[in-house]
Amino acid sequence: IYRAAIFDLDGVIADTARLHLQAWRQLAESLQRPWADDTEEKLKGLERMASLEVILGEESGNFSEEGKLALASRKNSRYQELISSLSPKDLLPGAGELLAWLHERKIPIALASASKNAPAVLQALGISNYFSHIADPEQSAPKPSPDIFLAAARGLQVEAELCIAFEDAAAGVAAIKAAQGMTAVGVGSESALGSADYIVGSLEEFAPKDFFLPAIRAAA
Ligand code: BG6
Ligand code: MG
Repeated sequence: IYRAAIFDLDGVIADTARLHLQAWRQLAESLQRPWADDTEEKLKGLERMASLEVILGEESGNFSEEGKLALASRKNSRYQELISSLSPKDLLPGAGELLAWLHERKIPIALASASKNAPAVLQALGISNYFSHIADPEQSAPKPSPDIFLAAARGLQVEAELCIAFEDAAAGVAAIKAAQGMTAVGVGSESALGSADYIVGSLEEFAPKDFFLPAIRAAA
């Protein structure tokens, strides 16, 4: 029986992973950098500057630090344009229902997203009120370090072992699995998220009563 739930945002709760990818892809094209078959999986969950390194690849050394910051900021401006029209209909299937179910039962919920845009996205989706704690990505080492998930558990004052956490990225599942006994639910495909404890195609397939409520014992 778990006592708290911790969520990644992009690609788990909100259909925003594709918007990050769209903005990165435009930047890659403008720099004439290749976009390989596995680029999308690699970029998922990575923080901004690490993502830029994936895009720049072997050309990374040709850019100054200021140049890189300018490129990252160009991507972020494009991303912010893309999220400016987000609304509750951009919640992924089952996300709103699961958050409401947990909230009604007073099971605390935290966010562990690498995105500095996360608070704005929660606001636009109309779900900020469900979160008791939002872990600050600027205060944590990036995923696959378990840091941000441990910070989320601390924020809720619940032991890591009693938290179940949801992720769509391989780096995020690795982060959860390294977080002192936390349980990982991979949201996506078995091939990318094989090391998760459970895998669901979407949050719609996750049955919270199996994880959060004590089993009702038949009278002896
Ligand atoms: C993660 C996304 O949630 O946040 C990544 O999966 C993104 O694609 C990362 O790069 C950082 O987001 P931001 O908004 O701080 O650039
Ligand atoms: Mg994600």
